[in-house]
Amino acid sequence: MRHVLISGGLGFIGINYLLDKTKEHEDVLFVVLDKLTYAANDPKIIKDLKNVILVVGDICSKKTVFSLFKKYHFELVINFAAETHVDNSLTNPLIFTKTNVYGLNVLLEASKKYGVKKFHQVSTDEVYGESLGHYFKETDSLNPSSPYAASKAAGDLLCLSYMRSYNMNISITRSSNNYGKYQNIEKFMPKVINNLLEKKMVPIYGDGKNLRDYLYVKDNCNLIDLIAFDPKLNGIYNISSHQEYSAIEIAESICKCLGCDLNLIKYVKDRKGHDFSYKMDTSKIESLFSYKFQEFNINQYVQEVINEHIKSI
Ligand SMILES: NC(=O)c1ccc[n+]([C@@H]2O[C@H](COP(=O)([O-])OP(=O)(O)OC[C@H]3O[C@@H](n4cnc5c(N)ncnc54)[C@H](O)[C@@H]3O)[C@@H](O)[C@H]2O)c1
Repeated sequence: MRHVLISGGLGFIGINYLLDKTKEHEDVLFVVLDKLTYAANDPKIIKDLKNVILVVGDICSKKTVFSLFKKYHFELVINFAAETHVDNSLTNPLIFTKTNVYGLNVLLEASKKYGVKKFHQVSTDEVYGESLGHYFKETDSLNPSSPYAASKAAGDLLCLSYMRSYNMNISITRSSNNYGKYQNIEKFMPKVINNLLEKKMVPIYGDGKNLRDYLYVKDNCNLIDLIAFDPKLNGIYNISSHQEYSAIEIAESICKCLGCDLNLIKYVKDRKGHDFSYKMDTSKIESLFSYKFQEFNINQYVQEVINEHIKSI
């Protein structure tokens, strides 16, 4: 059996990846390495997947990581593990550097030592920094605004250095904002839904006009899978479905969808270094795949999240 490491597989994107993609690779044993931070989903969600095993551990632990690589001789590593909440990175940046840079470096070192054939790093559009109309290409320089984005940018640069210095086969996907099931309640859309269900105030940063580009998580997982499993695809790939909405548009739509009072939405002091928008040029990935993205439908999304919420009560 072929062995693939999925680090951070219990997080929002990782668990969506496992639920969909492990069935398509029946000849692969997926070993999930996850520290089970507050952001991890309940491991029970993946308990019925036949070709998945869970190892609870930290990517920053050289001992844990190297012994796992020695045992399984992974042919592919897909790294979803990260600290991901921008607000937390403004109050506690050190854990971001530790996991997103040092932890990634441990994975790269183990991959080098044990001859991993392909390494895939899951990254973000936030590494480019704010766009005021410019569509960032994969070759553009990085200009991150938050400690989270800076740690992800450093991670991308480490990957590129391992490609160049050690000739490792590495791909990086930089995607826009994902939405879908199993996202932590700290993130914007789940937070809006949760607050409204509890009749609590919904805080909106600044004037609420900041845009985010919404990508269905399963679309991201499909493209990550296509790129990660293809040994010929390396380097950086932007992923976006080009569906931008402002924070206030999203909050009002969710409010209407739940039949709540719009007065629950309150503007609060803007976040430090809050980027207005991220725009990416996606011609590189479009030249590889003619992929049809899911259209962003707020009613459908809210229903999915509520159904999930009801199940977990
Ligand atoms: N969610 C988005 O909209 C989005 C957009 C673009 C890129 N990304 C990137 O995608 C990746 C996954 O994001 P997500 O939203 O699923 O994150 P998440 O915060 O939901 O999950 C992260 C997972 O990593 C695990 N983890 C954290 N530190 C760890 C460590 N030291 N060792 C082992 N496991 C650890 C957590 O327990 C959790 O299960 C991240 O690299 C993120 O930067 C996310």
